[in-house]
Amino acid sequence: MYASLKSIGAYVPEKVLTNSDLEKMVDTSDEWIFKRTGIKERHIAGDDEVTSDLGVKAGEMAIERSGLNKSEIDAVICATISPDYFCMPSTANMIAHKLGLNPVTSFDISAACTGFIYALNIAKSFVESGTAKNVLIIGAEKLSSIVDYTDRGTCILFGDGAGAAVISATDKKEEAIIDVHTGADASYSDYLITPAGGSAEPCSIESVENRRHFIKMQGNATFKVAVKTLTKDVIDILGKNKIDSKEIKHFIPHQANYRIIKAVGDALKLDKEQVVLTVDKFGNTSSASIPMAMNDLYEKGGLKKGELILLDAFGGGLTWGSAILPFGGN
Ligand code: ACO
Repeated sequence: MYASLKSIGAYVPEKVLTNSDLEKMVDTSDEWIFKRTGIKERHIAGDDEVTSDLGVKAGEMAIERSGLNKSEIDAVICATISPDYFCMPSTANMIAHKLGLNPVTSFDISAACTGFIYALNIAKSFVESGTAKNVLIIGAEKLSSIVDYTDRGTCILFGDGAGAAVISATDKKEEAIIDVHTGADASYSDYLITPAGGSAEPCSIESVENRRHFIKMQGNATFKVAVKTLTKDVIDILGKNKIDSKEIKHFIPHQANYRIIKAVGDALKLDKEQVVLTVDKFGNTSSASIPMAMNDLYEKGGLKKGELILLDAFGGGLTWGSAILPFGGN
């Protein structure tokens, strides 16, 4: 059996946080943010919404569009760095329960912004090995719960949201996910880190007072590794599969920074029309950004069955990944 991406869904919280709003919170400007990142605004979840609530809405949409009954979903994988609960239960478990899917295999994975590509890789392996027939993969983030809104280096970047896809078994090779690459290197682990709250630095009054449960990032150093690593990774995956970049209909990268996306797109000599951009309106939603961008394209009528997609992502860990697949939905 082959694995195919059968459907896509997403959820964007209602509340909008604009660059002008941020100008009132930290020493920044709309001009600086837009010029350096391409971001205009991002969405923030409500106080009564937790990460699994965002994931449920995206997941519900993906299942409905797949044409499957909920009872046919065998596994739920949620990629997140802002889970409902620190240790347990997993956010995937909460999503499965809220969707009424129980009992299914459900677990979270932690690969920061590369999480959706890691989840895609695991789902592909589950389906190809016969472990599961239909896997719901979700990237869901309430990053506003781990962002320090006094740190201008990070708070301007991140937003909340969720995206989901159903990965199903098929005997049609033309619908199959062609290849997925994933990688990681902890020599750069301090480039992007939430220092406190884990066994390395358990919660304490000091850790809270020093705001060490929030995302800390060495932005410029991360930027340089991201461009270098992603460029190499997408060139490798295209070369390995003997696919020319002109054959890619949609390049759907992780939406961290327009300048990173442009550098990788230019290295592949992609036309503007091939590159999908949502960073301006959603900001960086970590593991949710790729499926949110894919859903945005789908809802605009721009994504059709069989069209070839290239994904790439880079995030804390540091982690990275890429994937080539035809869209298997209708
Ligand atoms: N407003 C105004 N000035 C700012 C702001 C701000 N919001 N933030 C930083 N600055 C200042 C800095 O203090 C610095 O000032 P100085 O020159 O006086 O010291 C200057 O702007 C330049 O700062 P840099 O950090 O060098 O700016 P850069 O061009 O690198 O842009 C950014 C910063 C946008 C964070 C960029 O580095 C970036 O996008 N990095 C990669 C992020 C990423 O891809 N992360 C991985 C995914 S996230 C995840 O996995 C959770």
